[in-house]
Amino acid sequence: MEIALIKNLSCHVGEQVTIQGWIYNQRSSGKIAFLIIRDGSGLMQGVVVKQEAGEVLFSDAKKLTQESAVKVTGLVREEPRSIGGYEMQITALEIISIAEDYPITHKEHGVDFLAEHRHLWIRTPRQAAVLRIRSEIEHALRSFFYERDFVLADAPIITPAACEGTTNLFELDYHGEKGYLSQSGQLYNEANAMALGRIYCFGPTFRAEKSKTRRHLLEFWMIEAEMAYFALNDTMKLQEEMISYVIERVLEKCTNDLKALERDVEKLRAIKLPFPRISYTEAVEILKQAGEEFTWGDDFGAPHETIISSHFNAPVFVHRYPTAIKAFYMKPDPDNPEVVLGADLLAPEGYGEIIGGGQRIDDLALLEQRIAEHKLPQEAFEWYLDLRRFGTVPHSGFGLGLERTVAWLCGLEHIRETIPFPRMLHKMYP
Ligand code: 4AD
Ligand code: MG
Repeated sequence: MEIALIKNLSCHVGEQVTIQGWIYNQRSSGKIAFLIIRDGSGLMQGVVVKQEAGEVLFSDAKKLTQESAVKVTGLVREEPRSIGGYEMQITALEIISIAEDYPITHKEHGVDFLAEHRHLWIRTPRQAAVLRIRSEIEHALRSFFYERDFVLADAPIITPAACEGTTNLFELDYHGEKGYLSQSGQLYNEANAMALGRIYCFGPTFRAEKSKTRRHLLEFWMIEAEMAYFALNDTMKLQEEMISYVIERVLEKCTNDLKALERDVEKLRAIKLPFPRISYTEAVEILKQAGEEFTWGDDFGAPHETIISSHFNAPVFVHRYPTAIKAFYMKPDPDNPEVVLGADLLAPEGYGEIIGGGQRIDDLALLEQRIAEHKLPQEAFEWYLDLRRFGTVPHSGFGLGLERTVAWLCGLEHIRETIPFPRMLHKMYP
């Protein structure tokens, strides 16, 4: 018998297939049992009618507790009233295991309880929908770069130096030498871009964040691209094309999951190219007009980003931040060195910054000076400085935070639901 996936049942109407899965819910009367089965791809209702199925099968069906593992075989038919729109008339049932009393029942549970049971929580339909959308987003990002001839060049996780400031580094003992978990693959991306032209890396990054927010994880995934001969404007154009490519793919492939999450997809569908671009100084004006007390030169907090982005229906680029609040590698604007040729992309609906990036310093002397100003150890950056000694060119890049993007596209309140096992402040279990 062919093993089918629940998400593909529409291709099997009128056929006998087998589904391998788990019991999400079971209810029965004296004559009929309804089994809601999940298989990781979706939910399906299976029906066991005592008179047709016989005593044995019927009593087996009634034994099934929540999360018991089963293989069911039967005829698939369309049933608009049923979950997912299809139903199986079960004619064979193999019990793989009977589950003990399952802690996550169908009533409401508190967030702490769910977080403690994350290994089980991910089985619930909502969480599974988010994780499938996350997977689609990752695939879309990779295809976007593949189709544009970017080389995937993975960056190391263990690094000898800081990329994004020294305040949130995870330190480790590298056999007696001090090492750090990577905050960003960018510096290695720059080396790889000088070798391969246009590249990207995609991997976990680590920041020892000391505050609890709904936007910060201590371990998150970042896709980071770096392009030789790209200026700031070139990278913003690439970023907006990437975002719109991902949205299109998610809208096309994740219809059911977005519906399960009750995501207002019209908001995503309405996003058109090009995205608005405003300078940091213009963004400060928006804040002041909204009655905020804000001094030019300060960094935006989450509430500021929300106010700025609420003026737009699409993600908005904020470029040319004050040099003093940005990373050491950012290239000052030749027209005004008080600001840098960097840009953040702020997502709409209050989701905040999803991308940080910009043009890099390509001049050796200036880069040496900035490393000193930021009190970074120059020895650790000698290899990075070599990139300016040998064939330096203008170049730019960016990093997209995967989990913030998932939160936005899924319409989630909190980043903890965007990754199977979130690492948060004082939270490492499970
Ligand atoms: O703005 P950030 O710090 O930029 C960089 O790391 C650059 N070196 C990237 C580059 O140019 N190659 O981080 C980039 C993105 C942010 O916009 C945000 O989406 C995400 O990474 N991010 C986090 N996501 C979850 N939890 C955290 N603690 C995050 N910190 C940053
Ligand atoms: Mg940033």
